[in-house]
Amino acid sequence: MGLFSWLFASDNARSIKKLKKIADLVVEREEKYQQMSDEELKEQTNILKQELKDGKTLDDILPDAYAAVREASARVLKMKHYYVQIIGGIALHQGRIAEMKTGEGKTLVETLPAYLNALSEKGVHIVTVNEYLAKRDSEWMGKVFEFMGLKVGITLSGENQEQKRNAYLADITYGTNSEFGFDYLRDNMCVSLKQKVQRGHNFAIVDEVDSVLID
Ligand SMILES: Nc1ncnc2c1ncn2[C@@H]1O[C@H](COP(=O)(O)OP(=O)(O)OP(=O)(O)O)[C@@H](O)[C@H]1O
Ligand SMILES: [Mg+2]
Repeated sequence: MGLFSWLFASDNARSIKKLKKIADLVVEREEKYQQMSDEELKEQTNILKQELKDGKTLDDILPDAYAAVREASARVLKMKHYYVQIIGGIALHQGRIAEMKTGEGKTLVETLPAYLNALSEKGVHIVTVNEYLAKRDSEWMGKVFEFMGLKVGITLSGENQEQKRNAYLADITYGTNSEFGFDYLRDNMCVSLKQKVQRGHNFAIVDEVDSVLID
């Protein structure tokens, strides 16, 4: 092994060790959330939002937020995030790129950081490569978010300002990279703030980032 690959390998191993430590905290909480009624589980959204207002950080509440949405997904979609999906979800929250092979369940991975970052009430954007996927994922994963009391929106080409504004007012907004880009450009040409449709850029998750960035 050359020096560089050794350096990278050990750096990667260190990062994974740290990610695993956090993922273990999520798994440790599994039983606690399993034992909750649907009502109690949904209530976690308000509880976690309040903890943020009281000064906790997103990193502080990550284990509970991930454990809660994981249990919600198990109930609503009959899919419980695998350990590697939790690790992928933590890496995305940290703004990293998580490489996952086809069929490994990236759609479900996104629910973890999307839910967590939506708790700060500044909106989350989920970027897909085409409108078919934006619709599919918003309906599919939307069931989990809605169960947890969050609103899901979608920005589509050809929609009017009112429709788009509503899409961006949702806690989590799905759309394609080009539509998010055009909405941003159109907002920059508005003559008054009232006409803008986007309400800020808080946190975004990009699906298939390799093809989006090449685009
Ligand atoms: N934790 C899980 N438990 C059970 N089934 C799962 C789980 N995670 C994913 N799946 C299933 O795996 C399949 C593939 O998921 P998904 O489409 O998100 O993969 P992907 O990684 O986005 O693949 P692609 O690269 O093709 O887009 C889906 O049918 C999904 O229901
Ligand atoms: Mg996919």
